[in-house]
Amino acid sequence: MRSNTNTNNGTISTNKKRKREYSDSIHHPQQKRKQIKKYITEKDLNIIEYFSGEGNLTETYKRHGNVESFDIDNGNKEDSFLLFHKHIYEKKKYNVIDLDGYGFPFKFFPDIFLLIDTGWMFITWPKLYVNYPQNYRKINHQCYLGIENPSIDNVTSSLKSWGMCHWREVEILNVIEFNRRIWRVCIKVEKISPNKFNKVYEREGLLKSINNQLAIFR
Ligand SMILES: C[S@@+](CC[C@H](N)C(=O)[O-])C[C@H]1O[C@@H](n2cnc3c(N)ncnc32)[C@H](O)[C@@H]1O
Repeated sequence: MRSNTNTNNGTISTNKKRKREYSDSIHHPQQKRKQIKKYITEKDLNIIEYFSGEGNLTETYKRHGNVESFDIDNGNKEDSFLLFHKHIYEKKKYNVIDLDGYGFPFKFFPDIFLLIDTGWMFITWPKLYVNYPQNYRKINHQCYLGIENPSIDNVTSSLKSWGMCHWREVEILNVIEFNRRIWRVCIKVEKISPNKFNKVYEREGLLKSINNQLAIFR
């Protein structure tokens, strides 16, 4: 059960207070930085952080190239769920895209792949059944992923399918789990020609998984 803390503004949940204070127990900056350092070794990269918070990861990224950072409450204040559409319209390209929001990132998919031809993405994905049991977000999950309470395998196979929507091959490099509540996924992205697409498509058995997802609408 969620505990509450009294503040001058009234009563807020401890979780909200920790979020507001950018507590490490919610944001896990060390593990995130370690994962970034392990997979990003190149320099001169073009990097975008859509949920940069107070910049826990920004300094790490800056060692690898130019970093654009956005957050609704900090620094360059933007609503990233809208901003990324503008970036697509502007035909921007990045080598690293970081999606580290509090909620679910599904609204970015599949079109976020238009912003990356070759590179890496770091994606934070909360576990629905731990964080929001019996919640309307189940419906979003059913619509986007074809399942109400996805496992990490459902999430990663959806990332692969969404990549394919824009001719991007997605390789799952690493998944870490925080407090058994949140997954942080590192993927490698490579734009491929439609000719090569067929081979990847068959290898991954995507036809089967996409058919399974579509079955819910029949
Ligand atoms: C998990 S924290 C980010 C943590 C940051 N990457 C770090 O490691 O410290 C999520 C951030 O998303 C921001 N945020 C929430 N909704 C947003 C939105 N629609 N657009 C941009 N940022 C948003 C919050 O202000 C918060 O700083």
